[in-house]
Amino acid sequence: MASKLKLRVNGVTREVDSAPDTPLLYVLTDEMHLQGPRFGCGLSQCGSCSVLLDGAEIRSCVTPVSAVNGKSVTTLEGLPQWYAEQKTLAKAPELHPIQQAVIDEQAVQCGYCYNGLIVKAAELLSKNTRPSDRQIREAMNGHLCRCGTYPRMMRAIRRASEMMRDAHSGAETTAADETELAANATGDSAEVAR
Ligand code: FES
Ligand code: FES
Repeated sequence: MASKLKLRVNGVTREVDSAPDTPLLYVLTDEMHLQGPRFGCGLSQCGSCSVLLDGAEIRSCVTPVSAVNGKSVTTLEGLPQWYAEQKTLAKAPELHPIQQAVIDEQAVQCGYCYNGLIVKAAELLSKNTRPSDRQIREAMNGHLCRCGTYPRMMRAIRRASEMMRDAHSGAETTAADETELAANATGDSAEVAR
């Protein structure tokens, strides 16, 4: 008998009964009863099924569960804990800053796409705490919102970026921060010039 697959989902190691070629999305929703990732297109086109795999966004509708054996998957539900681990916080917040910002900006309309938008934005902010508008647009480009909430999501990402910086405002600006700021300013200037 084949050995079961094991994956770490939102910090908990889980054994999986599904066949190895089962889409990860089905395992997360049907076997683990998680409600964040959603089925949209099933073709890697819309982003509603997105999760983080070792911190990088993937489309769970086209990812066989065998491909994530032994790896760490974070869903919408696990973002606060994932954020706390990244920032070495003693305790996970109730919500990841982007989740809070989406609420504060009242960004959601029907909400169907928002799993993917939030997961992708969390990935972006984990790599770049000061994304320029151009960088936000580039990062979010593969996520479809049929309600057209893109401007509100843009505001939510900017707000989350500020919240994350405010939370760590005691830290001195590092050389990496200065480089990031300069790069963002250059990128936005170039965009305005186009
Ligand atoms: S359902 Fe996976 S990308 Fe659309
Ligand atoms: S809020 Fe309805 S699809 Fe995005």
